Parts: sequence; C-alpha cells; structure tokens
Amino acid sequence: MAAPTSKSLEFPKLQNDLIIRAARGEKTERVPVWAMRQAGRYLPEFREMRAEHDFFNVVQTPSLACEITLQPIRRFQLDAAIIFSDILVINQALGMECVMVPGKGPTFPNPIVEPDDLKKLNKDVDVKERLNYVFSAITLTRQELKGKVPLIGFAGAPWTLMAYSIEGGGSNTYAKSKKWLYTHIDASHQFLQMLTDVIVPYLVCQVEAGAQLLQVFDSHAGILGKDIFCEFALPYLKQIATRVKESLRTKSIEPVPMIVFAKGAHYALEELNNSDYDVVSLDWTILPQQARSLTPNVSLQGNLDPCVMYCTKEVIQAKVEKMLSEFGSQRYIANLGHGMYPDFMPESLETFVNSVHEISEKMNQ
Ligand code: CP3
Repeated sequence: MAAPTSKSLEFPKLQNDLIIRAARGEKTERVPVWAMRQAGRYLPEFREMRAEHDFFNVVQTPSLACEITLQPIRRFQLDAAIIFSDILVINQALGMECVMVPGKGPTFPNPIVEPDDLKKLNKDVDVKERLNYVFSAITLTRQELKGKVPLIGFAGAPWTLMAYSIEGGGSNTYAKSKKWLYTHIDASHQFLQMLTDVIVPYLVCQVEAGAQLLQVFDSHAGILGKDIFCEFALPYLKQIATRVKESLRTKSIEPVPMIVFAKGAHYALEELNNSDYDVVSLDWTILPQQARSLTPNVSLQGNLDPCVMYCTKEVIQAKVEKMLSEFGSQRYIANLGHGMYPDFMPESLETFVNSVHEISEKMNQ
C-alpha cells in the first residue's frame, strides 16, 4: 500500500505557528524558541528509555521515537518539536553499518577508505521503503502533538555525512575526509551527489508524512575553509533546498520553510543568504549584528553558547536579553548555537525558553 501523503492525511489544527511565521519573515508577537537536541540525555526520562533500548532501535521504532520527541514538549513551553532520529540513517540506507558506541558516539566499523569503496554502496535506494520507519514516526508524532506546535524534520548535509563515512566516526582534524576533497576530487563530487540524491527524496517524504519545517545539519562545515566549502558543501546544500521545494510544488504540496545549519561557516554567510533556504541557523561564534547585515534575505536562528546553560538563572536571563536585543524580535528563531549537552540541568532549558518568551513579548509591546 502506498504511504499516504500530507495532502491525504488529516492532522489536528495547528495552534502555534510562530516558528513558521518567523521562518517566512512574517510578523510574530513573540520570538519562537526551541533547542537542538531538546530530546536527549539531559532528560532523566530519555536516559530511562535508553537504559532499555539501543539508540538505533529507538530511532527505528516509531512509537518510541514519537515518545522521545514529545518528552521535552511536555516539560517546556517550546515552540517546535523535532522528530527524534539521527543524521546517519542516510548512510545506513546506502548500506553502511553504523552503531552507537557508548562513550564514543556513532561509529562505522567499515568506513569508506578509497574511491573504489563507493561501488559497494546501494545505488538505487528506495527511500520511501528503506526509511519508512522515519516517515511513520513523523506521521504518528504529528498526530500525537495534537497541533500544539509544528514538527521539524531534518537530514544531515552531504559533506557532514561524507565526513562521517570516511572518518568512521568523529575526528579532530577530519584529515581523512578532507584529503579526499583535495586528492580525490571527482570521487568526492560523486559521493556528495549520491548522498544528495538520497537526501532530497528523504526530505520530500518527511513533508509528505507531516513535517512542517525542515532543517539540514552541516555540522562539520567549520572544518572546511571558504574555498572548499563553496566547492564541495554549498552547491549540494543549495541543490537540496531547490530540488526539495521544486519536488513539493510538482506534487501540489506547499513547500515548508527550510533551515540550514552550517556550523562554523561564518565565512559563508553571504552565500548562505542566497542559497534558497528561508532560515540560516548560527553557532555562537558569529556576532548577531554582523550576521544580520550579511543576510538580508533570510530569517536567523540561534545562537546562544550552549555552555550558558551551566550558568545561574539570572545569568541565563541576562544572556538571553542581550541576544534578543542584538538580533531583534522579528525574523528570528531563538535557539542554542549547537545542541544540548548531556550534563545540562533540565531547569536551565526552562529558564532559556521562558526568558525568550517574556523578554521578546515586552520588546514587541
Ligand atoms: O532533539 C533533537 O535535536 C532531535 C534528535 C537528533 C539527534 N541527533 C538525537 C541524538 C538530531 C537532530 C540529531 C542530529 C545529529 N546526529 C547531528 C547533527 C547535529 C549536531 O549535533 O551537530 C550529528 C552530528 C549526529 C551524529 C551523532 N549522533 C552524534 C555526534 C551523536 C552523539 C554522540 C555522543 O555520544 O555524544 C549522536 C547520538 C545522538 N543523536 C544522541 C541523541 C539524543 C545521544 C546518543 C545516546 O542517546 O546515546
């Protein structure tokens, strides 16, 4: 049976569209806020679930992925939910084994070493079939959210997924994968295009399943300089936004706002401003005013240093006030500059979220 599309699916009416309006550059009465990794190990109820289930087992079981997505929504006045999954499901769909090793993170027992290894990857992935568990999780979660807040879908960007595949996991220098960019130029483009060709239908299917915004994570953009980012990362990021929107229009589905998070790519803000994304998400190393002046076409998201979450309530409030005064209260989505860390106190996120709401409401009066 064909998976239903959002045209045929009926979902509860959305009660809070702040983040969608902010992403589209429309007026908002207060600044919407969410946090990358808002569902994660800093929550005791997440750790409880993980004590019983393997990470990718949770990702592949829609009822469990839905439950974890909802955990932070029950606790905090967040303005968006993000589907619980991982960027590396794309690598798995291409035939690469990836396991979550406690204390080490995602690991590929058989990384891609040389260009010939690309031949081992699945060329014609049936995305709808192979990643169906993600689409089912999205549809279920969209129902269970009961219209409280929009649901964000996501994917990893081609460069970041290529880097993981070649390094076999995390790395300090990314020397192995960067070596490809300098010495295996054609094979690098071939690999990046293969990834892009899976990511595009993956994101389109997420929207058909019920995702109301999409974020693309290029977490390892910062290790590239401007030249190689513009040669190997940016063209594929752009292709993703353009093709996803085109594909949705062809299917008579209204394109959803798209967010790009190229962590550390402060050198490419002008390029990202013209990349077909609606929102550029910033890490904490970028000055808000500078980012604003370089990106007139888009809304901005970010960029509180996650480590501010270690501070007292008063300091968190003061940092939020400064951030809001620098970004302004429109065309803006408050977030951290990267994800929540496992040792943060849940109360800190509550302070962050409530401060954004209270301060931005006052700013708009
Ligand atoms: O709440 C959310 O933001 C949604 C869920 C989400 C996860 N991973 C859950 C997760 C999202 C959006 C991701 C994306 C992701 N995964 C990225 C891009 C964002 C970023 O952090 O830059 C990256 C690079 C990955 C790859 C990955 N998966 C890493 C580096 C890790 C952490 C490894 C570690 O042990 O610190 C993971 C595992 C992971 N993904 C966890 C969570 C909650 C924690 C692992 C666990 O439960 O054991």
